[in-house]
Amino acid sequence: MSILIENCCKTFRSVPVLKNVSLQIDDHEIVVLMGPSGCGKTTLIRCLCDLETPDSGRIMIHGKTLFDQQKTQDKALLKQIHQEVGLVFQNYQLFPHRTVLQNLCDAVLYQRLLSRDEAHKKALALLSQLQLLEKADVYPSELSGGQKQRVAIARACMLKPRILCFDEPTSALDQASIQQLFPILQRLRESMAVLIITHDQEFGKQIATRTILMKEINAVS
Ligand SMILES: Nc1ncnc2c1ncn2[C@@H]1O[C@H](COP(=O)(O)OP(=O)(O)OP(=O)(O)O)[C@@H](O)[C@H]1O
Ligand SMILES: [Mg+2]
Repeated sequence: MSILIENCCKTFRSVPVLKNVSLQIDDHEIVVLMGPSGCGKTTLIRCLCDLETPDSGRIMIHGKTLFDQQKTQDKALLKQIHQEVGLVFQNYQLFPHRTVLQNLCDAVLYQRLLSRDEAHKKALALLSQLQLLEKADVYPSELSGGQKQRVAIARACMLKPRILCFDEPTSALDQASIQQLFPILQRLRESMAVLIITHDQEFGKQIATRTILMKEINAVS
């Protein structure tokens, strides 16, 4: 099992947003999570990625405890977990003053996970897979929306995540770029689990191996 979320609760300013959310995701699944605006989808993904801390509950990533009534205090474990959960942000969050290649390599070099040569080799291989090799030395401002998204996907894959989360991956894309996303997601699925938040029902239906409505998993017990 890739992800286990059990009875997660999160309240903002005394408004409960996550109410005993439980969800399991296995390797090789593409889980599409849908639900109305404000129901807590992004909050749930942010909890998985440790960008937000739940108030209570349990989150396990590949058998490693991120949160069990409190966040793990084990810094080495936390570092491993951070590598195993990737997030492709809705606005991609590429560093504008860094080239595509630098965007891919900065984090692994900063964390000393790979040598410079290894990082470049890996980044170029990922860029090649995503048809972006010729963009390695350009800056994000010179890329189309679909290209920026593929750079963000490549960057998230540098750390070899076991699960990759996408927050509304199609919202800024035209139909042609959405079509390009399908084979990429299918390929990612071969080596990890994928969790996608989307309002795009057609896209969700086509890509999901399982569709979940937030109201099905977000109930007060
Ligand atoms: N950091 C925060 N501080 C206070 N309230 C927050 C915070 N983050 C989220 N919320 C609130 O939590 C609720 C759920 O927000 P969330 O972003 O998870 O919704 P969502 O389901 O992703 O919605 P959308 O489909 O519009 O993106 C909203 O009411 C939002 O205002
Ligand atoms: Mg959201």
